[in-house]
Amino acid sequence: MSMVKCIGILTSGGDAPGMNAAIRAVTRAAIHNGMSVKGIYRGYKGLITNEIKEFKTQDVSNIIPRGGTILKTARCEEFRTVEGRQLAYERLVEHNIDALVAIGGDGTLTGARIFAQEFNYPVVGLPGTIDNDLFGTDVTIGYDTALNTIMECVDKIRDTATSHERLFFIEVMGREAGFLALNGAIASGSEAAIIPEIYLERDQLAEMIETGFRKSKSSSIVLVAESEVTGGAIGVAARVKKEYPQFDVRVSILGHLQRGGSPTARDRILATRMGVAAIDALLDDQRNVMIGIQNDAIVYVPFSKAIKNLKPINPDIMKTLEIVSI
Ligand code: F6P
Repeated sequence: MSMVKCIGILTSGGDAPGMNAAIRAVTRAAIHNGMSVKGIYRGYKGLITNEIKEFKTQDVSNIIPRGGTILKTARCEEFRTVEGRQLAYERLVEHNIDALVAIGGDGTLTGARIFAQEFNYPVVGLPGTIDNDLFGTDVTIGYDTALNTIMECVDKIRDTATSHERLFFIEVMGREAGFLALNGAIASGSEAAIIPEIYLERDQLAEMIETGFRKSKSSSIVLVAESEVTGGAIGVAARVKKEYPQFDVRVSILGHLQRGGSPTARDRILATRMGVAAIDALLDDQRNVMIGIQNDAIVYVPFSKAIKNLKPINPDIMKTLEIVSI
């Protein structure tokens, strides 16, 4: 039987569509199980500065369609220090919060892991990031919405690319991970995806141009994952201008619009299932795990695995893109 009577919930790092659906589900599942809930604003920063409010079921009404996070978010330098984490711990004790649900990406879960170990404190994480770069879960909250946004944007750019017969490099987010670029390319019918996981091994740009990827087409669109390895869309386009000046090249950087918008049904359902699972995990005396989903089943992934292991790109998906883009 779990001893958890009151949980604290926070969102941290980059916001992702579906975080609100997760906040709603965690809150309501906790209340359903007789726990009380405290919303912690601005992530670990608000925990340190005491921005904490009791949440009732109506505090999370009508938030499921909204992008962003009603709890706000921040990237907190202080939580990286022992002193900062000590202050955070003291706040939790003051508020009688006996477990924490942290929603966010890599940085959030890294913080959660250190904190949980240092204070022997129960923390459950939910993978909330558009990047989809957490190991142990097939997908993360926000990824599907961001993919759909990318698809809609690329569809629009295709119109002008075709009219002018241009080669476009469109940069998408991903923080050194190529999931958005690769699957965004498939969904939008782009000709190729340049992603750090592959660019490190082979010169994707030279391959694409030398195999004549553009021969049968009047326009080409290449999605480029933001990354120091690829140099992003600007870096790749600069190389083309220098090495292959025959192309009429344009660059478009989608930027933060990829993080906004109302979550898709898929993200709302994922976030809701994961939110309920976070409370189940605490009831089950699980701690220091991330909730993941594998083959449509909820799984508990130890923080150490979720953070430390690099989530691999499925080579079959890369192959699929290559087959359909001839
Ligand atoms: O992790 C989500 C993400 O959107 C990454 O894809 C991107 O690299 C980063 O956050 C941007 O961070 P910021 O909003 O702080 O500029």
